[in-house]
This record gives sequence, structure tokens and C-alpha cells, in this order.
Amino acid sequence: MLNRLEAIQASAEAELAAVTNEVELQAWKVRHLGRSAPLGEVLDGLRSLAKDERPAVGKRSNEVKARLEAAFGARQEVLEARDLQRSLLEDRLDVTLPGRPPAAGRLHPATQTLRQIFAIWAEMGFQIYRSPDVESDEFNFELLNIPAHHPARDMWDTFYTTTPGVLLRTHTSPGQIRVMRERAPEPIRVILPGMCYRYEQTDASHEAQFNQVEGLAVGAGITFADLKGTLTSFARRMFGDQVRTRFRADHFPFTEPSADMSVECFLCGGQGCGVCKQTGWLEILGCGMVHPTVLRNGGYDPERFSGFAFGMGTERITMLKHRIDDIRAFWANDLRFLEQF
Ligand code: DAH
Repeated sequence: MLNRLEAIQASAEAELAAVTNEVELQAWKVRHLGRSAPLGEVLDGLRSLAKDERPAVGKRSNEVKARLEAAFGARQEVLEARDLQRSLLEDRLDVTLPGRPPAAGRLHPATQTLRQIFAIWAEMGFQIYRSPDVESDEFNFELLNIPAHHPARDMWDTFYTTTPGVLLRTHTSPGQIRVMRERAPEPIRVILPGMCYRYEQTDASHEAQFNQVEGLAVGAGITFADLKGTLTSFARRMFGDQVRTRFRADHFPFTEPSADMSVECFLCGGQGCGVCKQTGWLEILGCGMVHPTVLRNGGYDPERFSGFAFGMGTERITMLKHRIDDIRAFWANDLRFLEQF
């Protein structure tokens, strides 16, 4: 039996010397120190030995076991040291290499313009009022003095939902009715920003969705002079102190009189260029005095109150400022475009 123990030790030690990695090492441990290892069998068989043989075999068995355990530990240390050494050499970090900057996100160009517009109107005392993207025909058209079958509806190609009378707003103007009904008869100074939707054939200057910023001021004694002064003040803050503005008669069903405002082309200084189509002017918004019918629909007596309103397209302004020539770039999610802002 003692010879058997010598043989067990010798073969285990020989195998251990050939072990080169952690997986093999663990397999070795199972094979030579595990439950059904030859050494274990010897220990299990002690009881069936003659009484006088037992102490010597038992003692030797324990010695062999201790030796193999120590050898295992030593081997493990050697392997770990070797792995560490290798990773120090192979995974060496060259701290002199230039870093790779992580890609930083940024605000979408339309959002940047929106925030700039918000800040200007906030400075002039206008609150932000949000109204829903999904609107009723009544608010989007009827209450804004655009009856069904009226030719004025041609101005807005509309996305209708499958629910009769429910549509995606074609402009932010329906918010005018909502805020008036909420605040009447208090005076109002708000802007109403938001996404608008139109059933458009998309091309470089038409998108099926775009942002508008609507504005509304209602109170006693508001005049067209207030409209001109306020919008000119906005234009100067947005496009520069010196910028000139021009108002021309226009038509919208919800304002009377109606106008559009242009700013002097800030790209050519009014000389005429490709962007202003040689006119020297860039049209940036529609505006007018709130129509008496609309005031009444909002709960204000047009005999006592008046107001002005305006609506501008955020993407159009962004396009002019950055000379972007295709509105489709805004929602195409092309990083080559977005990273330029
Ligand atoms: N709602 C108009 C549009 O989408 C823009 C507009 C024009 C809004 C004149 C106004 C306004 O408030 O007074 O075409």
C-alpha cells in the first residue's frame, strides 16, 4: 500500500509539471485531490487494512495529500505570475497616444433656433403656451374663421385621422383659441411653439412636418403700431440691431388686416443675392390684427379688446441663417448634417 502511495504521488507530480494553464490546473485538482481521486480511494480503504498497517498508511496518505496540495498552490502561483507578466507586456497602455474623444451629442439646429426665439420673447414678457398636436377641425379651422368648403382651406393640405373631425394641426394658430378661452377676459402675451403637419409633396422647401412659433397678444387698445413695433424689436434681437423690416399686405382668414414681415437680407445686406432671390428681402412671418370673429370665438368682446398675432417657421429661419438649402435635412438624422451645428 505504501508503494501505491509513492506511485500516486509520483504520477500526480509529473502531471502537474506538464500543466500550462488554469483550466488544466483545475482539471488536475479534480483528478488528484477530488472525491474519487486514487488518493481518496486509499483513505477510504484504510478501514479494511490490517490494524497494524493502518497508522503508517494513514500517516503517509496525509503526507502525500499535503504535498500535492502544496504543489498545487505553488503551481497556481507560478501560472498567475506568468499570466500577469504576459498581460503587462501585451496589454501595455501607451499613455502618450492621443486620446479618442467620445462623440458628444448636441442640440438639433431647429431646437437651437427655437430656444433663441423663446429667449427673445421671454425677455419681452411673452409666456410659452403649449397646445396639442392632434387637433379638431373646429379648432384648426372653424373657430379661426375658416369654414368647411371655404377656398381658404386650400392654404393647408391636411392630414386627417380615421376619426371624423380629428386631424394633425396644420399650424399653431388653433392654440390661439385655446389660450383665449382659458384666460378671457385677462390680457394675453404668449407664444405658442410646436410641430405642425401638412400633407405635402416633400421637396427642398416643403416638409410634411415643421416647427412654428405662433404669437398672440390680446388686451384693451392694442394697435397695428404695437404689432409693428414688437415684431421689429424681435427681428433686431434675432438678426442684429441694424436689420430693417418691411411689412406688406397679405391675407389670412384669422387676421384683419393681415401682413407679412420681411427682414433685410442678412446675407447680402440688402444688395440682392441667391438666397433672397435678388430682392434684398427675406420673408419670415405672417401676422395681423386678430379678426373680430376669432376674438369672439376666444371669449373676448371685439368692441372692448383687440390683439395681434403672428406665425413663423423655425426651420425656414434656421435655413436662412445657416444657408441650408434643403429642408429635408432637418429630419433625415444624417450626422454629417447635424454635426455642423
Ligand atoms: N397660421 C399661419 C400659417 O400657418 C401663419 C400665421 C399667419 C399665423 C398670420 C398668425 C398670423 O398668427 O397672424 O400659414
